[in-house]
Amino acid sequence: MQIRKAVFPAAGLGTRFLPATKAQPKEMLPLVDKPLIQYVMEEAVGAGISNITIVTGRGKNAIEDHFDVSYELEQLLERRGKDDLLKEIRRISNMVNVSYVRQKEALGLGHAILVAKHSIGNEPFAVMLGDDIIDSEIPCMKQMMDLFEKLQASIIATCEVPASEISQYGVIRGYPLEGFGNRVYRVQDVVEKPPAAEAPSNLAIIGRYILTPEIFPILEKTRSGSGGEIQLTDGIRLLLEQQPVYAYMFEGTRYDAGDKLGFLKATVEFTLKRQDLGEPFRQYLKSLSL
Ligand code: G1P
Repeated sequence: MQIRKAVFPAAGLGTRFLPATKAQPKEMLPLVDKPLIQYVMEEAVGAGISNITIVTGRGKNAIEDHFDVSYELEQLLERRGKDDLLKEIRRISNMVNVSYVRQKEALGLGHAILVAKHSIGNEPFAVMLGDDIIDSEIPCMKQMMDLFEKLQASIIATCEVPASEISQYGVIRGYPLEGFGNRVYRVQDVVEKPPAAEAPSNLAIIGRYILTPEIFPILEKTRSGSGGEIQLTDGIRLLLEQQPVYAYMFEGTRYDAGDKLGFLKATVEFTLKRQDLGEPFRQYLKSLSL
């Protein structure tokens, strides 16, 4: 089985980024000059995914507009001879097949995935969260898909986080899978946002998953957990009772772009890497007397 489809949950209220997200989806916050969701979209396309279902909610129209054709803008750019910009704008709308489903109430990540059930059908699929921006040579999802080819089972992306931050994440208990180096774990349990003292490890769940379709009937039965929401982590916990689940420590740097400080770090580092902006920005940073 191959992974062809991905779900992008994008119905969250973005409370961590208020007031910027009061009238604007957090997925549209620009990292340098591209909205966050486009980075994740490019990762999915780079991994070979051809169909993306974005789970949206109220106030998220800007996401649909961004991936849609914009005739007026294209005509204007054409008239003004702005060929590079025109090419970039067309590239965005041609990237991949995108469809939208609506999560009417913000009942949690697990519920958002369930809303996409009919778009996915009976095949393994990817879940990609827009808050997690991963900078890597090989797209993180591609790394996971390569592993999926061998394991044919659900895989959760993970990385180590400091004890002081662990309670903000889903946390994994597992052991290294023999014969797969030191990046692959067989998962024994997962727990959503445990207090630091109760966390089973320092391995946090990061927002990239490959899930088998057996997760859907489980999510239908999953009760609300942490924060009163239907948690994907709780669904995966039940999935573990039926079939093996693995965790993969990806290669790359992950930024928590849903958090103000994480977003600022990503902005600085992505700008420094840009060919057009890197050098003047470096000079500017050096000139600051910090
Ligand atoms: C979600 C998941 C959590 C995971 C995190 C990664 O939480 O529920 O398990 O560790 O994404 O970014 P959220 O950040 O949406 O509260």
